[in-house]
Amino acid sequence: MRKILLIGIGAGNPDYITIQAIKALNQADVVFLLDKGEDKRDLSDFRRSICERHIENRYYRVVEVESPKRDTSKTYLQGVHSWHREKSDIFTSLIANELAEDEVGAFLVWGDPSLYDSTLRIIDRILADSALSFEYQVIPGITSIQALAAEHKISLNPIGEPVQITTGRMLRENRPVPNSDNTVVMLDDGSGLSSIAEQDAEIFWGAYLGTPDQLLISGNLKNQAANILKARAEARARKGWIMDTYILRQPPKA
Ligand SMILES: C[S@@+](CC[C@H](N)C(=O)[O-])C[C@H]1O[C@@H](n2cnc3c(N)ncnc32)[C@H](O)[C@@H]1O
Repeated sequence: MRKILLIGIGAGNPDYITIQAIKALNQADVVFLLDKGEDKRDLSDFRRSICERHIENRYYRVVEVESPKRDTSKTYLQGVHSWHREKSDIFTSLIANELAEDEVGAFLVWGDPSLYDSTLRIIDRILADSALSFEYQVIPGITSIQALAAEHKISLNPIGEPVQITTGRMLRENRPVPNSDNTVVMLDDGSGLSSIAEQDAEIFWGAYLGTPDQLLISGNLKNQAANILKARAEARARKGWIMDTYILRQPPKA
C-alpha cells in the first residue's frame, strides 16, 4: 500500500529538523514540493537543501508542482475552501500518478503540520472523497512559536496561565478569545498589529525566525508597534515576502 509522510521540517533553521524527520526523509521514494513562485524561491530551495543534506545512500525523486493561489476576491472562508479543493485535486493526482502502489511519498511541511497548515486537512479530504487508499504518518516539527519563544528567551505562559493562538485577521476583527492575557499572533499582514498598537501590552516580535535574516524586537507595544511595522514593511520590500509572529502579554497585575 502507498504511504504518505507529512514531515514537519521546522520553521526556518535547517538545524530544527528532528532525528525522526531525518529517518522519515530516508524512507521517501518521492518528495513532493509546491512551488510558490519566484518571490518565494528560497523557501523551495530550503526544502531541496534539507533533502540533499539528510537523504543518504538512497535514490529519491523530487516532484515539484505549482502551488495554487488563494482567491482573495472571495470572502476569506470561501477563498480558503476553494483553495483547499484545488490543492486536494493536485495532491490526488500527484499521489495517483507519481507514486507506485508500494512507494512512500513525503510532503515537507513548514514548521509543524498541526499549526495553521492545510496539508493534514487535505490528506483527510482525499481519503474521504477519492478512490485512493494509502496510509499516512505525521512527523512533528519545531513551530515558529517555539522558535520565537526560544529566541526571546521567554516562556510562552506565565505560571499557570493559558495561552491563546490566533491570527492577525482575528485580531483586526476584534475577536480575541476572552480571558487570555497571553496571545500568540500568526499570519498577520501588519493590519492586526496596527489595530491594537495603542493597547497596553508587552510585545515579543520575530520575523524570519531561525534564518540568517532573523529580526527580533520586544518591549512596550505602544513604543514598539511603529518600529515593528516599519521593520516588517522594509524587510518585506527587500525580500519579497515575510513571515512574522509575535506574543502579546498583558503587564503583570498589581
Ligand atoms: C501558514 S502558517 C505556518 C505555521 C507553521 N506550520 C508553524 O509550525 O510555525 C505561516 C505563519 O507562521 C508564522 N511563521 C512561520 N515561520 C516563521 C518564521 N520563520 N518566523 C516568523 N514567523 C513564522 C508566521 O506567522 C506565518 O505567517
